[in-house]
Amino acid sequence: MPANVPSPRAPCTARRPRRAAWALLAACLAGLPLVSAAAPPPLLLGTAWYPEQWPEARWPKDLALMQAAHIRVVRVGEFAWSTLEPHQGQYHFGWLERAIAEAARHHIYVVIGTPTAAPPAWLTSRYPQTLRVHADGRRAEHGNRQQFSFSSPLYRRFCRQIVTRLAERFGHNPDVIGWQIDNEMGPPSFDATTRRLFHAWLRHKYHTVAALNRHWTTAYWSQTYQHFSQVPMRASNENPGLLLDFKRFVSATWTRYAANQVQAIRRFAAPGQFITTNTTHWGDQFDQYTLSRELSLASWDDYVPEGRYHWLANGVQDDLVRGYKRRDFWVMETQPAFVDWAPVNAALPPYAMRELAWQDVGHGADAVLYWQWRSALNGQEQYHGTLLGPDGEPVPAYRVARSIAAQFALAGAALAGTAPHSRVALLQSYASRWAIDFQRQTDRFSVVREFTAFYKPLERFAQSVDVVSTRAPLSRYRLVVAPALNVLSRAEARHLAAYVRAGGHLVLGPRSGMKDSYDALWTERQPGPLAALLGGHVEQYYSLLNPVPLSGRFGAGKASVWAETLRAEASNTQVLMRYGPSNGWLNGQPAIITRRVGKGSITYIGAWLDPPLMSTVLDALARAAHVQPLVRGVARNVEVCERTGQGKRVWILINHGTKAHTVHLPAPATALLTGGAAQRTVTLAPHQVSVLLGSQL
Ligand code: GAL
Repeated sequence: MPANVPSPRAPCTARRPRRAAWALLAACLAGLPLVSAAAPPPLLLGTAWYPEQWPEARWPKDLALMQAAHIRVVRVGEFAWSTLEPHQGQYHFGWLERAIAEAARHHIYVVIGTPTAAPPAWLTSRYPQTLRVHADGRRAEHGNRQQFSFSSPLYRRFCRQIVTRLAERFGHNPDVIGWQIDNEMGPPSFDATTRRLFHAWLRHKYHTVAALNRHWTTAYWSQTYQHFSQVPMRASNENPGLLLDFKRFVSATWTRYAANQVQAIRRFAAPGQFITTNTTHWGDQFDQYTLSRELSLASWDDYVPEGRYHWLANGVQDDLVRGYKRRDFWVMETQPAFVDWAPVNAALPPYAMRELAWQDVGHGADAVLYWQWRSALNGQEQYHGTLLGPDGEPVPAYRVARSIAAQFALAGAALAGTAPHSRVALLQSYASRWAIDFQRQTDRFSVVREFTAFYKPLERFAQSVDVVSTRAPLSRYRLVVAPALNVLSRAEARHLAAYVRAGGHLVLGPRSGMKDSYDALWTERQPGPLAALLGGHVEQYYSLLNPVPLSGRFGAGKASVWAETLRAEASNTQVLMRYGPSNGWLNGQPAIITRRVGKGSITYIGAWLDPPLMSTVLDALARAAHVQPLVRGVARNVEVCERTGQGKRVWILINHGTKAHTVHLPAPATALLTGGAAQRTVTLAPHQVSVLLGSQL
């Protein structure tokens, strides 16, 4: 145990769940002020704090500095397994209890991170079978983190034990408001146990190996299996059916891994304590919708590695995470100026730190936490941005965080019970993302870039976009856009067709409706099970080396990366745009077709359009679907976010540009950050944020 770690305490014994009343009584007896037993503020600024890395005598100073910066929440315990259980079965939780109590004395709430992303050395050396095996067969060694196998039953037992003990001890602590399971779960393991589980998973899914052979078309290259046990376990360069099922198996395995800890917490914790896990930038290592069902809150780590903050590229990820549970979420980590893992760890300008934090809130975040408070003196992340320097005194990012936190305190109450409510949805499908990534056909087709290319004009036009799964209820949306819905099951197609028949407007992007849920090609041409509704189909797809002109109803522009020739078959399917002279195959062929279906419509866009044309097309389709911007006439660099609820309407206006802009609100509102009388006209200085409270219409 390092010298700067608090001295070991007596091991705790199993306890019955403590009632909140007991915790309160104990606190009274101990003479502790009950400062934070009340509900936490609705909007929190916080930081990741690792008290186990510092002498206990230092904690009051840290917490006083946090309090002075209006920091109201810390995440602790994450990665602290070797301090919490220094020897197998010897639990030392006293220091954590004291850290939580000390935080409470400074009006700071606590989220406990379960320490399971970093198993201690006694565990990995005594039980090496719990270590992860990489795709190339190498077994991980101790050191770094995430060196465990996500499917190891033994590792899960250890996780269950420590998480159970933590939940028994802190599940009714009124200062603990939530739990974070593990940290950025993701990498699978390729060990023998995982392989056996994969085979069992396949058997459960297909029942007979003949069914698997049929769906994967294993007659191809003589892949036919006689037994499930013959199926290899690979994450690339394999039969697409196998690859897609492996991803689904990985999703199911991570979900069970998380559920193991969630169950342990739920057994002992007060229902008011939330359970989340922090997810990564565009994370697609597993299906987030599936895993999120186990959790009560979604959260993500919002990093801008090279400091190049683009608000639309960041906003889409907030919306993506809001869609995991279709409700508010947390930003569990974000950078104080810079990170330490990008090729160039350039700093976010101070104004961008503020814009980013408020954008997160505008898109539905109820908390933003900086990673991290102070660097460990040694360890892999010494260069990462922090709020304190190695001397324990504030660095410049502290002052910026403090001013953002002061603003959070001013606007928090108004935001209570509010959330964004969109009338436009983008559909996100992990199966489609994975399927395209397995076989991109052109390395220029990045699913994330294409998705963002659709998002940007929609967000600019509507100022609020939901990103949801293909199974989400759709009736509230006037417009639903699926950028590259490559894998489209019959059930999903039925769901989308029902939306259109009920008067909804559906837009499919290129590469949609090509494959069934086994990653096999549909025998109907794209969009497969939606071709009949569209009254048309894709004749052929082409990867492009050079841009291709196209023109028609929406003017003229270019397509690049990908272009599909379409055919309108039904008499009322209209061609909206055609390709100009290009590779010979595309010349004069339809590029966008549409069909009215009762009061609804279905449109297919067969090409990756250049940004101006994409804007023109999506603006026109949004107008036709009666989508309206929240606030009209807003400059391109001004972001408008709206959160409503409890009779309130809160606008968060962010000027991301370098010139002043004036915004005319549809109703009078009170500026919460600056005060003053209700106003309809707001002038934003460059990079200024304004938060305004009006009443809901
Ligand atoms: C995150 C991780 C943190 C820290 C951070 C640095 O991905 O969850 O533990 O490593 O990156 O940016």
